[in-house]
Amino acid sequence: MTRNKFIYLNNAATSWPKPEQVIEKALWALRELSSTPGRAGYSALQGEREIFETREEVARLIGAEDSSRIIFTSNATQALNLAITGFLREACHVITTSMDHNSIVRPLARAEDEIGVEVTRVQADEKGMVGVDAVTEAITPRTRLIVLTHASNVVGSIQPVEEICGALGTSDGVRPAVLVDAAQTIGVLPLNVAEKGIDLLAVPGHKSLYGLQGTGFLYIAPGVDLVPLIEGGTGGQSTLVRQPEVLPEKFEAGTPNTPGIAALGEAIRFIHSRGIDNIRNHEQKLIGMLIEGLSKIQGVVLYGPVSPDERVAVLSFNVKDLDPAEVESFLEQTRSIQLRVGLHCSPMSHRTMGTFPEGTVRVSPGIFSTEEEVLSLVEGVRELQKFRRKD
Ligand SMILES: Cc1ncc(COP(=O)(O)O)c(C=O)c1O
Repeated sequence: MTRNKFIYLNNAATSWPKPEQVIEKALWALRELSSTPGRAGYSALQGEREIFETREEVARLIGAEDSSRIIFTSNATQALNLAITGFLREACHVITTSMDHNSIVRPLARAEDEIGVEVTRVQADEKGMVGVDAVTEAITPRTRLIVLTHASNVVGSIQPVEEICGALGTSDGVRPAVLVDAAQTIGVLPLNVAEKGIDLLAVPGHKSLYGLQGTGFLYIAPGVDLVPLIEGGTGGQSTLVRQPEVLPEKFEAGTPNTPGIAALGEAIRFIHSRGIDNIRNHEQKLIGMLIEGLSKIQGVVLYGPVSPDERVAVLSFNVKDLDPAEVESFLEQTRSIQLRVGLHCSPMSHRTMGTFPEGTVRVSPGIFSTEEEVLSLVEGVRELQKFRRKD
């Protein structure tokens, strides 16, 4: 792997670098796979096999019993849009939380405007955590869907998704369906959809799974009925005027991202070779070091849970009386550190944390981040404060 000319601490946006075997697999697919899967005979078979194998890898990873219920998408946003827009019906009720990403907030707002959906937003506490009872107590006879963000992309807080699912009991078509946005967790935290009774699970391939940008998927549990968002060619049942009902074709019209999907399968094999527990331990250690180092610097305010056990490797902070962009610029210029500042496409979370509209400085280490790199960030912030005091 090429060693970096900079320090990359923006894995919550997209992970980087990508594992060498993932890059190799994508290049191999680009070089070797000719015909589009489903759009030719023998020459399309290898691509079809790659896509099938990735579907199986994904199903095993999340505990889905039937891999045809994994729908490949371009990212988590597309998966969330399909789940929300495809599942909601006129005048139904939805429960969600105040830690949502705009890829949940905006399709819900449209559903409010266009089909009269009523949204109850459960408020998270000052650490960005949502209570189990607060969610279950919001259920009404009209509640069709509960949307939960598994871990916040602003402060990293892990929501009690498993406990909420446990409190709801198993999916029986009577209780509301549960949609989980696992954009910051799959690959770092284990989650079994069948055991927990999760009905819809939206995941990007390009964050903690270490696949390419332009990949993601939605899991749809048996019995959950969605309306497709796009219709078109599926490579089969071409005599039908209407979109085929068979899965996954019902939701996968158009040419798939075969190199990206093949590489996603390789990315999941990479995750297994590292071990999810080892990845989590590594990231928790780095987050622990960041919390310890930054909390000792005068004027630094940290947000979210204090314990690394309650969060994924996403940490937000601010330096008193400084705009987050000024902190970013100092760290970039003095130490070539790449991170993200602002609202992180989640203004709702910032309103919850009291950091709206300026946002925060967000640090998100990944598998390839090192102790030296996170210590360099802490040192950079210390230097910044020293520098300011001299002014
Ligand atoms: C919690 C959360 N949900 C959804 C998304 C959207 O993911 P994607 O960029 O793959 O569309 C993100 C991306 O930052 C996220 O962090």
